[in-house]
Amino acid sequence: MADTVTAPGLKRMREVGEKIVCLTAYDHPSALIADQAGVDLVLVGDSLGNVIQGHSTTIPVELDDICYHVRTVRRGISRALLVADLPFGSYNISTEQAIESSIKLMKAGASAVKLEGDYDEAIQAITKAGIPVMGHVGFTPQSINNFGGAKVQGRGDHSAHILAKAKSIEAAGAFGIVLELIPADLASKITEELSIPTIGIGAGPHCSGEIQVWHDIFGLSEKQHKHTKFFMNGREEMIKAASAYAAQVKSGDFPGPENSF
Ligand code: KIV
Repeated sequence: MADTVTAPGLKRMREVGEKIVCLTAYDHPSALIADQAGVDLVLVGDSLGNVIQGHSTTIPVELDDICYHVRTVRRGISRALLVADLPFGSYNISTEQAIESSIKLMKAGASAVKLEGDYDEAIQAITKAGIPVMGHVGFTPQSINNFGGAKVQGRGDHSAHILAKAKSIEAAGAFGIVLELIPADLASKITEELSIPTIGIGAGPHCSGEIQVWHDIFGLSEKQHKHTKFFMNGREEMIKAASAYAAQVKSGDFPGPENSF
């Protein structure tokens, strides 16, 4: 079995120019698939609010929801680094709250946590508690109400603000940073100026690695966004298979003698 991936290991991958492959997963079978496919970092993202729970934003997701999914994913992973999202409301109140929530995620089976925005004190305190932390800048979905929608951030003069945020998150001790929905040239500049790995999603090809949401790469999402790519038409294939199953049960062709005891 290949060596397990660690937070410092990701930094070494960046140093030698090896791209870091990251993917979300929310349950045991998808964790097994991601790990077997050679994904380096599996994120139990609060995107589960959208793709698993059917909410329109990540805001309703609770810490206990993430803990539940971390426990199931943990049992499917032997190599990848398992990172868990701190959901909205689980770190925003105080650094004490941020440490407490991070400890819960680690006890559920995470090997690192991720939080959105410039919570530098929290990043410092969580790291001090022995927990590796990832930052997340650009479009940060928990602040969707401030942005007025899922919009590209960091265009024009605003780019300096995002670069400064990324630098302060690195200085606070983050081991990596997600860059979401920002122009490719800004992501490239941040990647050049930081020494920690940058993980892009809708941030162009110059980041140290890429992260995508499970449902988006397997074609399970209803819509294909510009920053995603369907590597299979999972939704169509599954509807076809479910329809064939339904038709065969209706017609009496399934179960047949070969399925009977
Ligand atoms: O929740 C999530 O899935 C994420 C990634 C899209 C980076 O934060």
